[in-house]
Amino acid sequence: MRLRHKNLLGIKDLTAEDINLILDTAESLKEVSTRDIKKVPTLRGRTVVTLFYEASTRTRTSFELAAKRLSADIISIATSISSVTKGETLKDTGKNIEAMNPDIIIIRHPHSGAPEILARSLRPAIVNAGDGAHEHPSQALLDLFTIREKKKRIAGLKVAIVGDITHSRVARSDIYALSKLGASVTLVGPATLIPVEIEKMGVKVSYRLEDVIPESDVIIMLRIQLERITQNLFPSIREYSRIFGLNSEKLKNAKKDLIVMHPGPINRGIELDPEVADGPHSVILEQVTNGIAVRMAVLYLLLGGKEESELTN
Ligand code: CP
Repeated sequence: MRLRHKNLLGIKDLTAEDINLILDTAESLKEVSTRDIKKVPTLRGRTVVTLFYEASTRTRTSFELAAKRLSADIISIATSISSVTKGETLKDTGKNIEAMNPDIIIIRHPHSGAPEILARSLRPAIVNAGDGAHEHPSQALLDLFTIREKKKRIAGLKVAIVGDITHSRVARSDIYALSKLGASVTLVGPATLIPVEIEKMGVKVSYRLEDVIPESDVIIMLRIQLERITQNLFPSIREYSRIFGLNSEKLKNAKKDLIVMHPGPINRGIELDPEVADGPHSVILEQVTNGIAVRMAVLYLLLGGKEESELTN
């Protein structure tokens, strides 16, 4: 089993068949993390490097655990204590890592397109762990995995993505992934945080969260990315929270089996009230758990491991 792509740069490049292959493989691999000895020899002798130019808790940790649970060797480069601080360019850093002969480089970078630059010039497979406001493919894959696990399907579901769409690589990857698998996506947020002509991606747009809640099967709340917002795009945090934040009062009109998701980190009390983040509709920590299985599947499929029957032995 192998993906038809050398790299994972974005969901835009994948077909529905590719996505389903990753989700099915993740389903087989999820059980490994429940064992007493959480390890299979599938990628023994392979080397994975993570190269993160931005902060991360979930993505980096779960790629590291995914690699370890498949018995790959993993080295993590924190750029804040690397020679990047001495002015080394992205390409030079990539070339020097390549010279140490790893099989995969997993990169997070504040600039859209950075993973593609490495993919064009380096031999190892490149995995995009989030580039600027462009894509975050492994997050979208774990979101889909979690939705499929909870709802037993993706096609025909109504999914709302709420918040700062403009600055969100998660939103972009989720839109591609959900649309390719037949879900209907509605984006909700202030007009200043929704890109013009986004409907061309096949989504609907609403500026009123309360209109969208009753029809939704899934609501994905996004973090207000204060570090990327350079102008005043809404009157105040308090006003944003009142109109676009999710709380239990607004959820009174929701379907009983609605699931609420968030890629993390959460701004508690801004886009999501604690009572919702920790409440019965929330599957936020299940997303995190599923992230390991999905990233195990990504590493395994990019490196073309064994036959399916040997995957978890
Ligand atoms: N969802 C996500 O990308 O979280 P981190 O920034 O902690 O990796």
